[in-house]
Amino acid sequence: MREFDYVVIGSGIAGLTFALKAAGKGSVALITKRGRADSNTAWAQGGVACVTSEEDSFDLHIRDTVTAGAGLCHEDAVREIITQGPDRISELLQLGMHFDRRETMNGESELDLGREGGHSKRRVLHFQDSTGMEIERTLLDQIAGHPGIELMENHMAVDFITTGKLGYAMENSCVGVYVLNEESGEVETLRSDVNVLATGGCGKVYLYTTNPDVATGDGVAMAWRAGGLIANMEFIQFHPTCLFHPEVKSFLISEVVRGEGGYLLDARGRRFMEKHNSQKELAPRDVVARAIDAEMKRSGSKCVFLDITHKPADFVKSRFPNIYETCLKHGIDITKQPIPVVPAAHYQCGGVKTDLNGETSLRGLFAIGEVACTGLHGANRLASNSLLEGLVVAHNAFEKSSRNRPPRVAFDLPEWRPGHVSDVDEMVVISHNWEEIRRLMWDYVGIVRTDKRLQRAATRLRNLHTEVQEFYWNFKITTDLLELRNLVTVASLVVDCALNRKESRGLHFTLDYPDRDDAKFLRDTTMRRT
Ligand code: SIN
Repeated sequence: MREFDYVVIGSGIAGLTFALKAAGKGSVALITKRGRADSNTAWAQGGVACVTSEEDSFDLHIRDTVTAGAGLCHEDAVREIITQGPDRISELLQLGMHFDRRETMNGESELDLGREGGHSKRRVLHFQDSTGMEIERTLLDQIAGHPGIELMENHMAVDFITTGKLGYAMENSCVGVYVLNEESGEVETLRSDVNVLATGGCGKVYLYTTNPDVATGDGVAMAWRAGGLIANMEFIQFHPTCLFHPEVKSFLISEVVRGEGGYLLDARGRRFMEKHNSQKELAPRDVVARAIDAEMKRSGSKCVFLDITHKPADFVKSRFPNIYETCLKHGIDITKQPIPVVPAAHYQCGGVKTDLNGETSLRGLFAIGEVACTGLHGANRLASNSLLEGLVVAHNAFEKSSRNRPPRVAFDLPEWRPGHVSDVDEMVVISHNWEEIRRLMWDYVGIVRTDKRLQRAATRLRNLHTEVQEFYWNFKITTDLLELRNLVTVASLVVDCALNRKESRGLHFTLDYPDRDDAKFLRDTTMRRT
């Protein structure tokens, strides 16, 4: 058994920010299941929404966030995160982060602010169209070789060790974690007073997603198994514009392309957003994703198109170098041709329920970033609010956990017991179940839902859950098997939350209850393992 003051799981913006701050106070294990930069953050294009301009105000940003959240934002969380934003951005700048700047009319330099759907002002700080990569670079530069941080790459957290599972008669507390070392195949036992989930979201639960392969909902599944409270998993955000191309999976075409004037066109080259919403291409994401879905279903076309060709080519190339190069590599010159796009799963608005300090319902367990449900996003996240949330709540969680560190329990933690297990003999079974979950979630639990489709998904997921549990007990664990186990748990949580919400609100739209029902459902959906 190894001991740390802090165990942080995940190496995106929230995990890295927390680890860096905590390293000044105690020993930190930073666990990441692939390479250090493999995270959702690294793929973020748009940027960080933050009030920095005199034409903007905290109240306007709060209003836009709450409007998008469709009645379910927690206003204390919204205010805290938005008003603390400028301080956290200053810290990032001090660490060496670059944000794009532009020259003003009187020759001065100021931050260049992007615009995205649902924002009433330009307020998105960005580095070209690769903001997340630049954030990762900045934070990882600080972490590399840091004497207080042990970076454990290719290590996957299996489960938390809780006093409840160990049978102690005390408040259920998280006291450590079992971690699979992928290289050795051994499971290591880490003891820690402060355990921090920063594992990101669950886009891979769907067949089509803008997320990287690591986004398998590990944190929500682990917290659920440990007995933590989970909230609002029905609110999965579908990004309207993922590149549609046979050779490219999961490549996002940033909302900023629409923010800078891009039009959505149907298969016959006609604009269609005005039929659906007066804000047209800059309506909130749920509205645009549903409009595209409806347009594709109506016309039978496989995609719609995003057209930015009316803007000067030099502007397009310099503002979107990553999108321009990637599309060009696949035969699409976005300065001359419209981009084929489809909606895809993008962001998990629910997660492990926390307060403003990232504290969960389990003592000793914090959750920060996309894995958490702080109440900022409500029923629909405003674009580019999530990197801001990751920064602010990581800071608060560090402050809280350092001030009030849970006392160390007096007993040793048991080592992992592998039992009489053999190697998985047929990998095809694992990959088949992966595909099946992702396909059924796409077909039955997508942008437009019905009770019948949700019930069908629930039944199939119950069977898959039984099969996966059998693998888990009978075979030697691998990263693939652990991810599959997490995927089936998280998929079931999305379906169960969706079945509980008999109304349409924000990102949850069902044909059976097409209207919002504030009398019954103006509240979070919460779930705890019984
Ligand atoms: C985008 O660039 O469109 C994504 C931004 C976000 O999801 O916040």
